[in-house]
Amino acid sequence: MSVYIDPAVAGHLRGFEMPERLGFGTVMAPVMFRAVCQDGCWSGGELVPYAPLALDPAAKVLHYAQSCFEGMKAYRTLGGGVSLFRPERNAARMAHSAERLCMPAVPESLFMEGVRTITAYCANLVPASSGESLYLRPFLIGTQPDLAVSASTSYEFYVIASPSAAYHAGHMRLWVEREDSRAAVGGTGDAKVGGNYAASLLSISRLKARGYDQSLWLNPGNRHTVDELSGMNFFAVMEGELHTPRLNGSILEGITRDSLIQLADALGYTVHERDIDIDDLLALVKSGTCSEAFACGTAAIVSPVSLLGDGEQQYELAQVPGPVAEHLRQSLLDIQEGRAEDRFGWMEAV
Ligand code: COI
Repeated sequence: MSVYIDPAVAGHLRGFEMPERLGFGTVMAPVMFRAVCQDGCWSGGELVPYAPLALDPAAKVLHYAQSCFEGMKAYRTLGGGVSLFRPERNAARMAHSAERLCMPAVPESLFMEGVRTITAYCANLVPASSGESLYLRPFLIGTQPDLAVSASTSYEFYVIASPSAAYHAGHMRLWVEREDSRAAVGGTGDAKVGGNYAASLLSISRLKARGYDQSLWLNPGNRHTVDELSGMNFFAVMEGELHTPRLNGSILEGITRDSLIQLADALGYTVHERDIDIDDLLALVKSGTCSEAFACGTAAIVSPVSLLGDGEQQYELAQVPGPVAEHLRQSLLDIQEGRAEDRFGWMEAV
């Protein structure tokens, strides 16, 4: 199916002024992709000027949070081209998230058409500095105006785009969240749904007041093994080997996480996907056996952790940024930005 391109798109793109300094997700490209689904039938996609959405105040998404999203990036590659990174993995994860919330999956062909179209039209908005990119945010919402607690019969799928720098510059101080949970056992922890992020906000506001940057969430079932951060996965480095929480149903299956595991393996590191007890981890940081830790995600790339705070106790990581995190970050960016051979077949030129 071909995409309808609104005639106003060209003028909006011409009038766009790229800011001199980029933050993360603060400036939006002046166009967006959209498609609608009514009673299970998807319309064709359209590229239209970026504009506020017209939603009925009774739309299901506003009351019952029928909403899921993805985070992905288009990179400027050596030689000037533009490529997406493993976009089919985002399409599959969004289908998983949609299923969990009883929403129709966006067909892979429509998802790919959306991300390719907006990337192609916004190619001039893809920054060239290493670590910067065009961040893409596909999302799906239930729009039926009806207050019954039941799945919507109508949905809208959008892809918006934002020229962005990495989510977190510098190192991060993590707060071990021992009170609240981000997700429930049997809940939506392994789906990329807005509610998981909403549930993390109170913890984030409490920890910011204490001088920390991010919560380190514990498993909601046992309350003593590490799950992840609010929007990133977690790795610890112990005696040169990588340890990351195993996928246990309450952790988001990060595409950067998976890529780093494959990359680390190819670079000769040993990677353990396992349950990591928080008290063991803190003791290993204290003794220096765990010398570095980092968070990873599409938005964050690889961000070193400098400190773990647990109540009144603070545990400093010995190496910030550590050599393993630096090696992995650079190796991943080298593939994404086209400086290294893509031996994994991860990049898709647009
Ligand atoms: C991403 O890494 O793309 C995410 O979705 C995290 C975001 C919520 C900042």
